[in-house]
Amino acid sequence: MSRLLLHGGTIVSADSETHADIAIEDGVIKDIGTYIEDYDEEVDITGKLLLPGLIDCHVHFREPGLEHKGTMQTESAAALMGGVTTVCEMPNTIPPTCTISALADKVRRAEALLENPNPNPNPIDIRFFFGITQDLHLAALLELLNGTSQELTHLRARCCGVKLYLDHSTGDQKVRDDVLEDVFRVCGQHHFPVVVHAEDESTNRVAAAQNTRTNVAVHSLLRPAESEAIAIERAITLAQKHSTPLHIAHLSTEQGVELVRNAKKCRPFDCAQGDTFSITCEVAPHHLIFTTDDYERLGTLIKVNPPIRSAKHRFALWQGILDGTVDCIATDHAPHTLDEKNNPEPLRSPSGIPGVATMLPLLLTIAAGQWPNPAEPNATCPPFSVRDIVRLCFANPNRIFHLGKHDIEKGVSTPIVVVDPAKESAIHASDIPSLCGWTPYEGWRVKGAVQKII
Ligand code: DOR
Ligand code: ZN
Repeated sequence: MSRLLLHGGTIVSADSETHADIAIEDGVIKDIGTYIEDYDEEVDITGKLLLPGLIDCHVHFREPGLEHKGTMQTESAAALMGGVTTVCEMPNTIPPTCTISALADKVRRAEALLENPNPNPNPIDIRFFFGITQDLHLAALLELLNGTSQELTHLRARCCGVKLYLDHSTGDQKVRDDVLEDVFRVCGQHHFPVVVHAEDESTNRVAAAQNTRTNVAVHSLLRPAESEAIAIERAITLAQKHSTPLHIAHLSTEQGVELVRNAKKCRPFDCAQGDTFSITCEVAPHHLIFTTDDYERLGTLIKVNPPIRSAKHRFALWQGILDGTVDCIATDHAPHTLDEKNNPEPLRSPSGIPGVATMLPLLLTIAAGQWPNPAEPNATCPPFSVRDIVRLCFANPNRIFHLGKHDIEKGVSTPIVVVDPAKESAIHASDIPSLCGWTPYEGWRVKGAVQKII
């Protein structure tokens, strides 16, 4: 067996940076240290950073049913390019992942991808969220959670939680009001994570009724900040009542951050069933980087749900990252074709932004102190480090969704992402294997790149 020595790199975890060599044999990390002498082949990675394969806990890979936008193969290739080796995939496909058979079909497709790795040289671990819009889907979830057959046990291991939409978004999967509380109750009993897309339907409906304009920037007014706050409050109330592990997806507002911050202070005696209430949240790179000022240049390319907000909200999201309120950065990678995005009626253009390939280089650029958005040349970067990236894009999602991944440590087999923190380049969609063929970050200068995955 040949023993590979990675020499001269710095291992980054959520709370440390360690300059050390790594010996790998048969895919397993056999040794970590400064003077490893027993090896057959040496790879010099002086000056490079070694990150555990990142986890993106919010992606839409579009298969089955929407393969003209993306497939598991194309979007996995994009993920790997961005140092992401594990993804949690959303249920708004066709059919939606709301039945056991739809989940089984996705699991089979992901396994087939691993069996036939070309042209992806590295494996990707795809986990799936189970969607629920009505009582039949809740019955299927119960079968999944309680099943003892080998098949159901296998499927349960591939399912990372439940996804609930509190208002319609792409795929029209709003959960019915009469089933919502039961989902929180069942997931509370099983300690099963519930991810909520927090927008309130009636608030959005009122905003839409008041609008007569058609330009794309209006999208941010049609789904106002209060809508997110109302939906988050509703979800927190139910989660506290039923001790449900609650995760708020793509937080986008100042009010939302404040609600999560306060809920995290909740003591066990504030919660109905004692000590198991937990609330976590994620923020998407596009909400951390864009503001409504960017509509002028980027138009429908940055139309997304929840929408891009003002600089005040973006600042609050960064505050939430820095004080630990925000647990994860997740891309909400949501490819649509350019033709679809270029709908002549901007408000009819589908919402969603691809981002799984660009998250890491953008975050590395910010960690290097360079604000990547070229429209804001004088902006200063928040104090943000590569350790923060590992905390937000690996350690926390790994814990929240029980993914069982390992840091770079002795005795484990785990993908290692080799990052060149000094490499400067420009983002081009033509370099990204994602099927949609465009990125809102086209031409942006970034500092830091994935060199390879070992
Ligand atoms: O903008 C969005 N796009 N928000 C969602 O909730 C869904 C996603 C998609 O699937 O395109
Ligand atoms: Zn999403």
